[in-house]
Amino acid sequence: MKVLVVGSGGREHAIIWKLLQSPKVSYVYCAPGNGGIRQMAECVDIKADDIEGLCRFAKKHKIDLTVVGPELPLSLGIVDAFEKEGLRIFGPRKDAAIIESSKAFAKDLMQKYGIPTAKYRIYEDETKAKEEIDSFGLPVVIKADGLAAGKGVIIARTKEEALNAIDIIMKEKHFGEAGNKVVVEEFLEGKEVSILAFVDGKTAVPMVSAQDYKRVFDNDKGLNTGGMGAISPAPHYDDKVAVEVMEKIIKPTVEAMNKENRPYKGVLYFGLMITKDGPKVVEYNCRFGDPETEAVLLRLESDLVEIMEAVLDERLHEVDIEWTNNAAMCVVMASGGYPENFEKGYEIKGLENAEEGIIFHAGTKYVDGKIVTNGGRVLVFSALGRTLDEARAIVYGDIEKVSFKDCHYRRDIGLIK
Ligand code: AMP
Ligand code: GLY
Repeated sequence: MKVLVVGSGGREHAIIWKLLQSPKVSYVYCAPGNGGIRQMAECVDIKADDIEGLCRFAKKHKIDLTVVGPELPLSLGIVDAFEKEGLRIFGPRKDAAIIESSKAFAKDLMQKYGIPTAKYRIYEDETKAKEEIDSFGLPVVIKADGLAAGKGVIIARTKEEALNAIDIIMKEKHFGEAGNKVVVEEFLEGKEVSILAFVDGKTAVPMVSAQDYKRVFDNDKGLNTGGMGAISPAPHYDDKVAVEVMEKIIKPTVEAMNKENRPYKGVLYFGLMITKDGPKVVEYNCRFGDPETEAVLLRLESDLVEIMEAVLDERLHEVDIEWTNNAAMCVVMASGGYPENFEKGYEIKGLENAEEGIIFHAGTKYVDGKIVTNGGRVLVFSALGRTLDEARAIVYGDIEKVSFKDCHYRRDIGLIK
């Protein structure tokens, strides 16, 4: 079958790498792809949010299955548009993708159905939000309602920071329309775990657990990023917590979406905080996580296409999904300055020397026979090992052989837990 993958990051590279292991897949296109993806798939120059363009392409090239990586096209209704044309596509429809695209929707859903999450209030009025800020205690978390590429969350340690955060989101509109509403919520203490699950509308099958490293510098210092590395399994996620998460969070969320007439199909990502009062939801994402996917998919032994087809046909309960017990991890090599301003276009050297693990490309581009940097997160070094330490040795061994001007990566992925 012919597959089209939408997106251009390390997550999409990992998805394509896994899809190509399936005997069912004969050809893969990627829109728009990147410098590494082009070595294993045909990249086509259509942007991930150009839904009409993608739909036209899929029809013309008789694509059998389209897989969507990022949240933006999902929240714009790419699945609805493809389904209207009779095209098979993996991901939630627009009315279900709202679980990520509106934090206010997600919080109200959890409150209505008793799914554990931080206490919160939603404000459309900036003055009211400011007036009530004292009632939350400190630190307090201020979030823009809509999509903000993982940047619309501010953890305020003082009242002044909190008031400032409300201004940044609601008055200065740093995140545009996403800041028309804010969610103000209680700060949760605990360990974060990412659980991705395949969901076919009725059945949910969680993948192996992962832990994301969100801060840019070692020892969890510096600004929040899209993620600087990940390990799988997550050390703070044991069988007991897994059962609790399944019964109190995963199953109730899938049921809640059905009761709201927004049946969920695709991958549902649960960003969890394991608190002293049990696991609570920090956020939902309507897609595979990045960089969690670049660790988790290394552990998947089953055929990803078969799983995706089972999701589309609502027979996930019939499929056995197998994982290796080996540990996986990945480390992101980023442009100097990321997640703030950074330069692009630097040549990446040494890629051919690093071949112990797998290098997934994120922000790279192929120009005149060279691979150059083209984004904040540039490369994702991934490996599987019998233990986490073994995976870690492979990843850091590879990283040392690759470089570009001002490159930066964390040295403590897999060390701090
Ligand atoms: P989000 O985009 O909602 O996942 O938020 C980004 C990051 O901010 C999360 O991964 C957490 O590290 C942190 N965060 C968000 N909400 C809370 C909260 N209520 N308590 C503590 N940390 C939070
Ligand atoms: N790694 C967090 C995310 O994918 O949003």
